Amino acid sequence: ASEAEEKDLVIIGGGVAGYVAAIKAGQSGLKVACIEKRGSLGGTCLNVGCIPSKSLLNNSHLYHQILHDTKNRGIEVGDVKLNLPAMMKAKDTSVAGLTKGIEFLFKKNNVEYIKGTGAFQDEHTVAVNLVEGGETTVRGKNILIATGSEATPFPGLTIDEKKVITSTGAIALEEVPKKMTVIGGGIIGLEMASVWSRLGSEVTVVEYLGQIGGPGMDKDVAKQAQKLLQKQGMKFKLNTKVTAGDAEGEGVKVTVEAAKGGKEETLDADVVLVAIGRRPYTNGLGLENIGLEVDERGRVIIDQEYRTKVPHIRAIGDVTFGPMLAHKAEEESVAVVEYISKGYGHVNYGAIPSVMYTHPEVAWVGQNEQELKAANVKYNVGQFPFSANSRAKTNLDTEGFVKFISDAETDRILGIHIIGPNAGEMIAEGVLALEYGASSEDVARTSHAHPTLSEAFKEAAMATYDKAVHY
Ligand code: FAD
Ligand code: NAI
Repeated sequence: ASEAEEKDLVIIGGGVAGYVAAIKAGQSGLKVACIEKRGSLGGTCLNVGCIPSKSLLNNSHLYHQILHDTKNRGIEVGDVKLNLPAMMKAKDTSVAGLTKGIEFLFKKNNVEYIKGTGAFQDEHTVAVNLVEGGETTVRGKNILIATGSEATPFPGLTIDEKKVITSTGAIALEEVPKKMTVIGGGIIGLEMASVWSRLGSEVTVVEYLGQIGGPGMDKDVAKQAQKLLQKQGMKFKLNTKVTAGDAEGEGVKVTVEAAKGGKEETLDADVVLVAIGRRPYTNGLGLENIGLEVDERGRVIIDQEYRTKVPHIRAIGDVTFGPMLAHKAEEESVAVVEYISKGYGHVNYGAIPSVMYTHPEVAWVGQNEQELKAANVKYNVGQFPFSANSRAKTNLDTEGFVKFISDAETDRILGIHIIGPNAGEMIAEGVLALEYGASSEDVARTSHAHPTLSEAFKEAAMATYDKAVHY
């Protein structure tokens, strides 16, 4: 980095929030630098999150299917063996290809990539401790905080990423644990529990609340998901809190009791996964040097234009408010660069989808029944099961349903909740419908190709204001 030159935009963090903003800024003709300490771009998502987890989810599903779901398809297989190092290598290859790809996009869009740890020196200057040794400073007219998040630790259990692991250890285990305890039945817990359970681990998920799936998942969907995951071999302890952990000696013990208090029980396992949420990461960022504050959950405080109280310093992604999702961070990246370069930008926070990549997948957008009831909104529900969908039948993959919720008076779509094959792809149509303010009738009167899973989507829309044809 050249110390003399002042950039239009300096970005701290090269995760999805930071790298997308950097590319967009470069495309808009801004002079931009992006500081990343990890040694590779893409942040949590590409390096240790979305991408490696999906590689393992896909390949462990294939393995599990070959073991348990081929005979009635007319396929006879011989000895099936797991080669875990090779499965991990496939994951690493996908990650390396994608992270390197961002470096190429940086060059293509004139983004200066500074490998190092950034910290505020003053309101316009970031000091960088370089990965290769030495220091530099970089000055910016605007500065963007995009430093992301980290796993919330469980008090009393020291993370070693071998026996007591976060998701980072869970995507890199060297052997399949015989027994695994998962603390937290949210998205990370269930995705990682799926991987290791499919590969042969005996997995118990302990969840404090009365339903799995974390915040936002519709109750009916969460119930169905739990049923199907149980059928695959996972065990659940709901309404149960973990009170203590002990990783001394062989294996790990965790003590649990009913959330409302009650008898204690000890769970033994070879590996414990801590998946109780993530928290914003601002360690060593020097926020105190410029008087910036975080809220009680560690989030950098911003206004609707992503400005901190120092107006040319903004924050987006996991380090601030909103769902901790890569595509949410990506929308904010585009909007924040537009605010900086044009003075206006927009993200529709009411239409950000959520997807859980288990099998079947779970996906939703908008509001769920619990939320609408609490808000006293009158609504209609239309539901269609995949067991009545022709394509799901030919695929012998018929578990789950599509559920539409629309306003009782206007039929405007309020929420769509899917559990079923390819739900994560199917929800895109729901997001678009919500974004366009569509009614369920709008969707139902749109032609959907036959035979496709998406016909279940259309029929659920139809069932919301009328009757489905095939159910
Ligand atoms: P991050 O990706 O955390 O990036 C921040 C970057 O800033 C990091 O690379 C960090 O090294 C760097 N940094 C921090 N401080 C400094 C500093 N002082 N100087 C320089 N660099 C610094 N989301 C989805 O939408 N879909 C998924 O399927 C999905 N799967 C996930 C699976 C797992 C196991 C996990 C853990 C998360 C998953 N997420 C998923 C969430 C997703 O990863 C995050 O929402 C996303 O990465 C947030 O992007 P970000 O850029 O805000 O933060
Ligand atoms: P989460 O907030 O989704 O779930 C944490 C769960 O742990 C909650 O259900 C909570 O009730 C439970 N819990 C908390 N303390 C507990 C305790 N002491 N005992 C038992 N249960 C306890 O957080 P998670 O799963 O760690 O994920 C973090 C973030 O990463 C989420 O915001 C998620 O959106 C994101 N992510 C997204 C993915 C996706 O989009 N597919 C995949 C993985 C992560």
